[in-house]
Amino acid sequence: NGYHLAVVGATGAVGTKMIEMLEEANFPIASVKFLASKRSAGKVLSFKNQSVMVEETTPDAFEGVHIALFSAGGSISKQFAKEAVKRGAVVIDNTSAFRMDPTVPLVVPEVNEAALANHQGIIANPNCSTIQMMVALEPIRKQYGLNRIIVSTYQAVSGAGVSALEEMKEQAKALLVGKTEVAANILPCGADEKHFPIAFNALPQIDLFAEGGYTFEEWKMVNETKKIMADDTIKVSATCVRIPVVSGHSESIYLEINEEQATVADIKALLVDAPGVVLEDEPAEQRYPTPLAAVGKKATFVGRIRQDIDVKNGFHMWVVSDNLLKGAAWNSVQIAESLHRLNLIQS
Ligand code: A2P
Repeated sequence: NGYHLAVVGATGAVGTKMIEMLEEANFPIASVKFLASKRSAGKVLSFKNQSVMVEETTPDAFEGVHIALFSAGGSISKQFAKEAVKRGAVVIDNTSAFRMDPTVPLVVPEVNEAALANHQGIIANPNCSTIQMMVALEPIRKQYGLNRIIVSTYQAVSGAGVSALEEMKEQAKALLVGKTEVAANILPCGADEKHFPIAFNALPQIDLFAEGGYTFEEWKMVNETKKIMADDTIKVSATCVRIPVVSGHSESIYLEINEEQATVADIKALLVDAPGVVLEDEPAEQRYPTPLAAVGKKATFVGRIRQDIDVKNGFHMWVVSDNLLKGAAWNSVQIAESLHRLNLIQS
């Protein structure tokens, strides 16, 4: 008894964390299958102190699987997610492959768990930067309504995968021993032509450039926000920047609410008990969130809440979360917990 699970991309930065989150998940697990590319087949990983051999991802690998967590890139999801559904699995997909598909729920459990009820086999996990912003802003939206969001991100390198992290470390080592030219082959974006060092740098490009001079990462924050909050009228624009942090995304968020009378104290009161939020906002004691302190935690940390100097209904805040956990693996496993609790998994 319990569910048969598969993790696709089990050897990757997010997959590794999915395995850890599943070890502490709140539902019964009968078996796990760890899938990756052919290159990793035969590699041994551990689950609850048992050895599990990595297998190649094939359509038949999903035979008998109840829940499949995907994090091996969009093309692998496009290739295999429907094969998994055909064989009876619920797919929780961490890539952008299906997020904007109107038949696919895009879920942050603290915000729109109810959207799971209509799933048709595939559920999408939002973009890491979108998720933590939703957790922080939903309590405010519910109370006052949101008119506009302007967000700038400071995103960690682990979001670009294990190879990007290795590249950053190599660059940092080279620069520290006095080299002036370092190799860059992955960031800002594997699919683009030019590559720049991330070590001791900041890159204002995440993913390829798209419409209006915005990158796809920035468009994801815009479009996913409207879908998750189920409101097309919220104005959103984003600037996404990669910085040389290992894990933990930070965001400077400017928001305008539909209420002229709210104070910083009112906003803090909404966030102090909000699900998934930890308020860390004591400037007098230099208490505010940082990525290093957020690593390994499931929560979204909020601090530096200030009223705008000129706009009465405008507020600024600083929002930090572990991009591999709430931004990816934990949100996915939390969706699985919700599906189990709501009785939405066939077994
Ligand atoms: P592998 O380690 O075998 O290459 P990251 O985001 O850290 O770069 O991880 C990407 C994940 O996606 C890894 O687990 C990787 O497995 C997996 N992956 C990459 N290409 C494929 C593929 N063709 N089929 C299945 N999994 C893949």
